[in-house]
Amino acid sequence: ELSPIDKAKFVAAKRAVEYVEDGMRVGLGTGSTAAWMVRCLGEMVREDGLKIKGVPTSTRTADLARQVGIEVISLDEAKWLDVTIDGTDEYDGNLNLIKGGGGALLQEKIVATASDMMVVIADISKRVETLGAFPLPIEVIPFGLQTTQALVEETLVSMDVLGNNVTLRMNGDVPFVTDEGNHILDLHLNRIGNPRQFSLVINQIPGVVENGLFIDICDAVVIGYGDGKVEVRD
Ligand code: A5P
Repeated sequence: ELSPIDKAKFVAAKRAVEYVEDGMRVGLGTGSTAAWMVRCLGEMVREDGLKIKGVPTSTRTADLARQVGIEVISLDEAKWLDVTIDGTDEYDGNLNLIKGGGGALLQEKIVATASDMMVVIADISKRVETLGAFPLPIEVIPFGLQTTQALVEETLVSMDVLGNNVTLRMNGDVPFVTDEGNHILDLHLNRIGNPRQFSLVINQIPGVVENGLFIDICDAVVIGYGDGKVEVRD
């Protein structure tokens, strides 16, 4: 028997895989919700003969996809994707997102952007009025890490953001390392008034590769509930 939270994630995933049809190239997201979707797709491949090619957004998802029987190809082999299904850390009423809690935001954003459609799967706890309560992850290259962090902090002050606390994500005693060999700074902002503008300004800082704001990328959010109910917002 699944806990209500797992049930919510599972039913959202189950509904979202209905977007996937034979012959499609599918972006495979990362995280605990996306993992349900990968397992659902694997079952459809093994039991219903569904023919798809999957482009994973992390080594974790690549491992899981292969394990459940999905053919894995690179994004450059796929060139373009029909649909990407991924989880999120927050979504708002405009279907803008904060992602990257799992540290895979860079590949996730490249893959989602290369897709005709991005479907997000979530439980209702991810719904927010205004983005930013979840710390915004930004991916920064290792060179000059502290200098980049100082510049990010300065930029937040100059933008008059209320919360301007920046923390380096750790993995035990050492900085967390992404699949691309970079680090993650978490920006504790409380609220992001103008996410589109904020994303542009942050990405201008040298050393910053990408941030976890997904603006105008997501086309539909499938929300699962603990009682098995599912709701689609698009
Ligand atoms: C991974 O980098 C993230 O963007 C995840 O998609 C996000 O953290 C959602 O994860 P959960 O489904 O585990 O909440």
